[in-house]
Amino acid sequence: MIRFEKVQLRFDTGISLRNLNFKINKDEFVYLHGPSGSGKTSILKMIYMELFPNEGLVEVLDQASSLAKRREIARVRQQVGMVFQDFKLLPDRDIYSNIALPLEIQGLRSDAVHQRVIALADDMGLRSRLAHYPQELSGGEQQRVTMARATINAPAILLADEPTAHLDEKSASEVIQWIWKVHNLGTCVIFATHKEHILKQEPARTLSILAGEIIEDYQR
Ligand SMILES: Nc1ncnc2c1ncn2[C@@H]1O[C@H](COP(=O)(O)OP(=O)(O)O)[C@@H](O)[C@H]1O
Ligand SMILES: [Mg+2]
Repeated sequence: MIRFEKVQLRFDTGISLRNLNFKINKDEFVYLHGPSGSGKTSILKMIYMELFPNEGLVEVLDQASSLAKRREIARVRQQVGMVFQDFKLLPDRDIYSNIALPLEIQGLRSDAVHQRVIALADDMGLRSRLAHYPQELSGGEQQRVTMARATINAPAILLADEPTAHLDEKSASEVIQWIWKVHNLGTCVIFATHKEHILKQEPARTLSILAGEIIEDYQR
């Protein structure tokens, strides 16, 4: 599903990530764990084909990123959900339209979109928020909306980049429970975090990153 082979990524400021080698299968939940600046976000961006390696191979859903043209990148991205620490909701769209976005991009009919959005909003306790705008919601609610948007089309892969960073404990634990639920429904999850206690709470395979290198790859 995801394959990194001898991947090196350089920024103008110098080499940032080097000799990354790993494979992730479609049924896995994997933590990327390492301190701030170690390279977690850069790895997620290479999987999302937003950054491209200077050397080596990044393959996602059987597509090598270096060979991918715009259309192939779009096709991969349709199957990848993203959740960030800072939510990135569209401020001028209400919650309904934020959640519906991936289905609209896929060209689903609006009555089918409606059905799916309502069902998911009910499931996530967001039903009463659908007509509101992102800035009217609490941080925890906003993150639930980004998760609804990221998972409404049952993506093959979910990339979560420090999704609990700005949340209180209760909202953080809801986010983590939801991500595991999505995983248990068949989505491959890559979860980047610098927080040791999250790994301990819900153990899974962990890639430990330090200064742009994977120093450990272990199963808890
Ligand atoms: N656009 C960029 N230009 C230059 N250096 C960058 C850029 N993005 C990230 N870096 C550098 O790459 C390294 C890894 O960053 P990042 O992937 O954001 O780490 P993390 O997500 O683990 O905090 C850091 O040293 C960072 O300064
Ligand atoms: Mg980061």
